[in-house]
Parts: sequence; C-alpha cells; structure tokens
Amino acid sequence: MNIFLTGGAGFIGFHTAMALLGRGHRITAVDEVNAYYDPRLKEARLAELQKNPGFRFVRTDIAAPGALAAAAGGERYDLILHLAAQAGVRYALKDPAAYTRSNLVGHHNVLEFARTHPGLAHLVYASSSSVYGNDTVAPFSENARADKPVSYYGATKRAGELLSYSYAGLYGLKQTGLRFFTVYGPFGRPDMAYWSFTDLILKGQPIPVFGGGKLRRDFTYIDDIVAALVRIVETPYPQADDVPHRVYNLGNSHPEDVLGLIATIEQATGKKAIINHTEGPAGDVRETYADIARAAADFGFAPHVPLSEGIPRFVEWFRQYHNLP
Ligand SMILES: NC(=O)c1ccc[n+]([C@@H]2O[C@H](COP(=O)([O-])OP(=O)(O)OC[C@H]3O[C@@H](n4cnc5c(N)ncnc54)[C@H](O)[C@@H]3O)[C@@H](O)[C@H]2O)c1
Repeated sequence: MNIFLTGGAGFIGFHTAMALLGRGHRITAVDEVNAYYDPRLKEARLAELQKNPGFRFVRTDIAAPGALAAAAGGERYDLILHLAAQAGVRYALKDPAAYTRSNLVGHHNVLEFARTHPGLAHLVYASSSSVYGNDTVAPFSENARADKPVSYYGATKRAGELLSYSYAGLYGLKQTGLRFFTVYGPFGRPDMAYWSFTDLILKGQPIPVFGGGKLRRDFTYIDDIVAALVRIVETPYPQADDVPHRVYNLGNSHPEDVLGLIATIEQATGKKAIINHTEGPAGDVRETYADIARAAADFGFAPHVPLSEGIPRFVEWFRQYHNLP
C-alpha cells in the first residue's frame, strides 16, 4: 500500500512506520518536528526511518493551509494514518492554542485532504482514552457517551471524533478512530511519567507523585499498539449500511497505579525511588481502563506485554540511548 502518515517523527508514528515499511508498504510522512519535547529524539527516529528507501519525509505543519496537498507530491495514497497531534494533558494548561491548532484545525485539514483525495480507501486517526473523563464506568466502553472530558486535550480529541463522524456521514469518508491508552516503550515520550520517573530515579533525584500515587493508568506497550495498527491498516474497511465511522479502544485492559509503576521501574533500574508526594495540576483523570472487546472481536486485538516486561525493555533502551552504564 502507499500510505500517507502524519506525525511520522512522533513516538507511535515512528514505530508504526517501521513496522509498515518492514512489511513492504511505502510511506510518505509529514511532521513539523516541534519542540514540545526534545526534537533531537524526533530527529533520531527520522534517521532510523530514512534508512528505508520506501520512506519519504516532508517537514510541514498540518494546520497550514495547503500543506498536506503540497506534501502529497502528486502521488496517490491508499490510506491515511493521522497520528500528528499536540499530545499531553498538562501542557494544555500552558498553551491551549497549540491543541486548537494541531488537533482541531490540523484534524480538519486532514479530513479535507482525505475527502478530496482520489481513490482513498480509508482514514485511520488517533484519538485518546482522555475522551472518557471521570464519569465513565470502568472498564471504559466505546458505547459510553464520553461527553464530559476533564482536560482540554481530551476535549479536542473528542471533537476530532465528531468532526470525523460528520465527514463520514456527509461524504462517505471511511474512517477508524483509535483511542490509545497510555502507550509506552523505547523511543517513547519524555513528557510522560514512565520516562521522567526513570530519568529521576537513575539520577537519584526525587520524583513528584500526585494523588498519593493512586491514579491508575492502563499502560499499553508500544508493540501491542503497533500490531493492532498494522492489522487495522491492512484490513479492508467493511461494507457498511450505516455511517462509515467506527472507534476502538486500544489499551492493555489491566490498569496499574502509579506506585506500582514506580515499583516496576525500581526493579528494572535496581535503584530506589525518592518519592515526593505533592498536589497535582488539574486535568488528570483518576483512572483509565479499556474495555477491548470490540477490537478483540474485529481485529483479534490481544495485548501480550505486561508492565513487568515492558518497563525493563524501556529502561534498557533508555540506558543505551543516553549512554548510561
Ligand atoms: N502515547 C500515548 O500514550 C497516546 C495516548 C493517547 C493518544 N495518543 C495520540 O496518538 C498520537 C501519537 O501520539 P505520540 O505519543 O506518538 O505523540 P508524539 O508527540 O510523539 O507525536 C506526535 C507528532 O505530531 C507532530 N505534530 C504535532 N502537531 C503538528 C502539526 N501541527 N503539524 C505537523 N506535525 C505535528 C509532533 O511534532 C510529533 O512528532 C497523537 O494523536 C496522540 O494524541 C497517544
């Protein structure tokens, strides 16, 4: 397949592109390589991807008018995988406009690009567990209303789903939205707790822990997410009588609390954490917990990697990447 990928320098985009290229697909990726976290990590991911002759990269802002059509370079794509976004719950308290730009304007530009792209079979895009807020009964089902997001990030991701639904209904644009649950692993994101905790524990510095360490997250290993993405990309969109738009939870369906995460990192690093209990900022939900029955039924989704295996793999990569003993 010829695939157009947004967010190709990002954590999930990088791993998914590596897997798809390995399976013989061709990829044109766009990313603005912004400095939300250290862009050198994004460049390191791109350097890996650029070793593959089936990979083409265009540095551009998906929210800029005409940027996607220009990046397409006159090629025909079978599928668009839209993963670019302003991610992170807390940064939305500092710079909400970044979320409006990338997740609303950018998402709409992707929809217009997809709608007008001749012969496009399917648009797959990233949503988030953050759409569920605090009032959804766990485990979270895709049938929940999800209309009370706690964070502005979650609100933009839910809005993206609704924008997508309208395009599916109005234009028959076939779409799949994926609600990822706390994805972690090698080449991961420095803004996420598993990364900063590992960093601080290895440096012997205190780690700030919110909510008494009782916040629970459905930590999902990157390889499990990539396996699902490959399946979803390679499976033709089914004939639908209804609006051709569907959403899936992709999570581990096994939440763990933050103290459990810390204990797992302590074991993997062989170092004791110094815990500094503190008041957290607004926007963090108490728990995320995916009901994955729908993805299991339609794609055989079955996450295999528990936190106790995934964290040691991450720590090993982290040490190598930073040249630590
Ligand atoms: N990692 C997770 O735990 C998680 C959980 C839920 C949802 N998601 C979603 O999955 C997707 C991928 O997340 P990730 O963890 O790989 O994040 P990431 O931040 O590593 O990747 C996103 C990429 O998008 C790029 N980008 C942002 N705005 C852009 C713009 N306007 N134009 C071009 N590029 C832009 C960034 O430079 C970045 O490289 C995102 O949509 C995110 O919201 C991730």
